[in-house]
Amino acid sequence: MPWIQAHLITSKDQAPLIELLFENLGALSTTLVDAEDEPLLEPKPGELPIWQQTRVTGLFEGHIDSDHLRQRINQDLNSDVTRTLELERLEDQEWERAWLDNFHAMPFGQRLWICPQGKRPEQPDAVIVELDPGLAFGTGTHPTTALCLQWLDHTPLEQLELIDFGCGSGILAVAALKLGAKRVYATDHDPQAMQATTANAEKNGVLERLQLCDSQHPPTHPVDLVMANILAGTLIELKDILTRLTRPGGRIILSGILSEQAQMVSDAYADAFSMQPPRQQEEWILLEGRRK
Ligand SMILES: C[S@@+](CC[C@H](N)C(=O)[O-])C[C@H]1O[C@@H](n2cnc3c(N)ncnc32)[C@H](O)[C@@H]1O
Repeated sequence: MPWIQAHLITSKDQAPLIELLFENLGALSTTLVDAEDEPLLEPKPGELPIWQQTRVTGLFEGHIDSDHLRQRINQDLNSDVTRTLELERLEDQEWERAWLDNFHAMPFGQRLWICPQGKRPEQPDAVIVELDPGLAFGTGTHPTTALCLQWLDHTPLEQLELIDFGCGSGILAVAALKLGAKRVYATDHDPQAMQATTANAEKNGVLERLQLCDSQHPPTHPVDLVMANILAGTLIELKDILTRLTRPGGRIILSGILSEQAQMVSDAYADAFSMQPPRQQEEWILLEGRRK
């Protein structure tokens, strides 16, 4: 079935009204996104901040008459707002899979490649992770994941036990296992992430060296290497847990940190870890520490 999307760019104050109007006109869903370039990172629990300039999109069934829809929106809103109204027709497709069209094999460091199923690089000594993230975060396209993958690629992992805290698609856990890690414990508070991690470990033949742990009950014994690609505020909140999980002399890798937050995160971990110089990709930082 085809669909119609109505898009309007509006101010922060008007956005909730337009959202409500779209719902009243029969929208099946409404979406609010940034209309400019104003990142809103790490809202507090329960906070739902929106942008100064917000693009509101309503998704309508395709049989709705688009002239009638335009007329109703124009009637209910003043002309300043409706000047930005755009109606777009969308053909139906298998939406969960559509992103795969743009997912290509990607190298990280010297040997490691992340590949969609069936696509392989030419490099003979490549270490290949075949990945389908499903609905979880982690394809390698984001700099925070890329920094972790590059770090794993150049680190000897044989004989090491790791924890992937916030495993998402399982991309880091599976990459570490394919690069030779002895065992990986993976945890995430999102059940879809746990599902995706299991499926990706199975697809890559490393499931028997992976142990999934409920995020309320992470592993109890400290390991050689803890990786957490989450956001700065959460990394600071998790500091005691992540410290306990790293054995003395072991390493911690923290990612998901914006450059201006790096000092704050590094300071939070500095009593328990000797922190190394940060690595940076675009505006994102990876921190490494060795447990004292
Ligand atoms: C940025 S994604 C990283 C995914 C993957 N590890 C990667 O590097 O691409 C962060 C993941 O951490 C999970 N997460 C966030 N806070 C968490 C918490 N307090 N406990 C467990 N998992 C958490 C999220 O559900 C998400 O899957």
